[in-house]
Amino acid sequence: MKNKITELFEIKYPIIAGGMVWVSGWKLAVAVSNAGGLGLIGAGSMHPDTLREHIQKAKAATDKPFGVNVPLLYPEIDKLMDILVEEGVKIVFTSAGNPKTWTSMLKSHHMTVIHVVSSSKFALKAQDAGVDAVVAEGFEAGGHNGREETTTFTLIPQVRQAISIPLIAAGGVATGNGLLAALALGADGVQIGTAFALAKESSAHLAFKEKSIALQEGGTMLCLKKLAPTRLIKNDFYDKVAVAEECGMGVEELRQILGKGRAKLGIFEGDLVEGELEIGQIASLIKEIKPAKQIIDEIVAEFNQSAATIIPLPKQSLQSGS
Ligand SMILES: Cc1cc2nc3c(=O)[nH]c(=O)nc-3n(C[C@H](O)[C@H](O)[C@H](O)COP(=O)(O)O)c2cc1C
Repeated sequence: MKNKITELFEIKYPIIAGGMVWVSGWKLAVAVSNAGGLGLIGAGSMHPDTLREHIQKAKAATDKPFGVNVPLLYPEIDKLMDILVEEGVKIVFTSAGNPKTWTSMLKSHHMTVIHVVSSSKFALKAQDAGVDAVVAEGFEAGGHNGREETTTFTLIPQVRQAISIPLIAAGGVATGNGLLAALALGADGVQIGTAFALAKESSAHLAFKEKSIALQEGGTMLCLKKLAPTRLIKNDFYDKVAVAEECGMGVEELRQILGKGRAKLGIFEGDLVEGELEIGQIASLIKEIKPAKQIIDEIVAEFNQSAATIIPLPKQSLQSGS
């Protein structure tokens, strides 16, 4: 398949694995890139030296394109940016911050820059800041989320109308039919988080992966909206936050309940009781831990089969009138 996204990144399929905290090390990024998608290293949970190590290992392990996700609220952001330049990283996905701050510097080093947004307004701002493409993420997604709770199905057609640069849909996509739907809504590709967080090569703890694949529909909720809206599996920690929010607790009290290091505790160390367990709604569709290549191959096979059977339908055209 050739389209704006495969051409922008020089990849085979318009499938990107989100760069995720405590999940996306070089092994997952390389596995996705070698399978024809675009793998990203998630810098958000890495010490600067650790990021450099992961970039170097990825460069040694693949000759395919890969990128780095940088949440712009990272405390030592200057150090991360220096490393991206020094290591000659070619693709950078920025998120959680103002795209104006770093885009021109990254572009002056010939990097392809993509920014993650949760609304048409911010998509337009990212386009104005000069990014090459936008990821628009609906509130089904795992990880941090938009406050407005706009779903992917609602968001993508509106962002499509708002911007002219390539558009990548994120949130709730894990299958070939999901990819097909995203393209039908106006996206040029998809960014997938949850399905790859549960892949064999993800750095997430096995207990976290097993808990996630055992989820039923409704097993996650968006919470912490006063701090940073985050989709979490319902566990003891979630219950504490939910009670606090129902009681109308303020930002400071919520910050105290959250404390430090909870995402690491839950996702990386596998504490299913006290940890922050970030995963998307689509986890309840996933039943197995699979290698990233198998995930991509299955998406592509289902996409091709559905494209051959669903797409010819409009040729018969829906009749208007009676
Ligand atoms: C455990 C986890 C950690 C994440 N960390 C980040 C991150 O550091 N930066 C970022 O831009 N997005 C992050 N995300 C969001 C993903 O990159 C992706 O956009 C999202 O998961 C897509 O929706 P899905 O989960 O429904 O596939 C994270 C998602 C998960 C599940």
